[in-house]
Amino acid sequence: MSNVPAVRHIGVFTSGGDSPGMNAAIRAVVRTASATGIRVSGILGGYDGLVHGQLMELGARDVSNIIQRGGTMLRSARSEAFRTNEGREKAAGTLKVRGIDGLIAIGGDGTFTGANIFFQEHGTSILGLPGTIDNDLFGTDRTIGFDTAVNTAVEAIDKIRDTASSHDRLFFVEVMGRDTGFIALACAIAAGAEYVMLPEVPQRIDQLITALTEAKQSKSSSIVVVAEGDEEGGAFEIARKVKECHAHFDIRVTVLGHLQRGGSPSVQDRVLASKLGVAAVEELCKGAHDAMVGEMNGRIVLTPFQDAIGKRRRLDPDLLRILPILSV
Ligand code: F6P
Repeated sequence: MSNVPAVRHIGVFTSGGDSPGMNAAIRAVVRTASATGIRVSGILGGYDGLVHGQLMELGARDVSNIIQRGGTMLRSARSEAFRTNEGREKAAGTLKVRGIDGLIAIGGDGTFTGANIFFQEHGTSILGLPGTIDNDLFGTDRTIGFDTAVNTAVEAIDKIRDTASSHDRLFFVEVMGRDTGFIALACAIAAGAEYVMLPEVPQRIDQLITALTEAKQSKSSSIVVVAEGDEEGGAFEIARKVKECHAHFDIRVTVLGHLQRGGSPSVQDRVLASKLGVAAVEELCKGAHDAMVGEMNGRIVLTPFQDAIGKRRRLDPDLLRILPILSV
């Protein structure tokens, strides 16, 4: 006989910035739980739904026809109320009243910070699934949504390349990534960009200008991918600084923004979300808690929330090394 108390009713929610594949993860959680006779409640609007008691019971058929949809059927938010003790007390009250004994939170670092605090304060069994386009969580090779976001951004940059080369222009394309450059680096490699500006790698404007001046000798147009969190500023600011030194550069700026967050999830994101959603329910039933369920080298791995948010994931040094070789 196992000492692990049986899980009878799971609550699932999406929180923070949405990401393509969140729906596929919800579907996997609901169907896995249903198959084992566990009730599932979808909590609406992230932690806000827990605080205000906004839930809906979900069965296997309620998650039909969503695997291919971007966004999240449960909606998402960055909850202010849950940041307060009072809010978390109310959230714990909701779980008690509804008889929910396990939670699955789909989101990024902010979501897991909240989950970790909630576990410490109320002992709630809670597991996380990495749902963010940023790919910045320690303990998983990929986050749900990253692959789709990068594909969307690269498709856009390919189009910008057409017009850039027609007009001999220098384009600065800003991609998302408030604190990290995973999206920017992958886009730069995949779209054949001439240069990339990343928050993790301190680069000065004069280094960028030297690279662009060299590039100008052999090619008439260039693309610089800028991560929104770069310390030299966003794409507009960096473009302004370059123009100050090189008035003759014909410069344009495109900020891709939230279009990177939407759209039908890629196969890779659907498969990842499905695997992780199933694993989260199975692990919760085995008694796992206070951890993120990720995938590393093709295997399911549990990483304590404190490590998932506290340890810094490094950019792939190989990608950093090959970009200048390939962008000549
Ligand atoms: O964390 C995901 C993310 O898309 C970041 O890349 C971006 O900086 C941020 O969310 C934007 O947040 P919001 O949708 O609240 O403007």
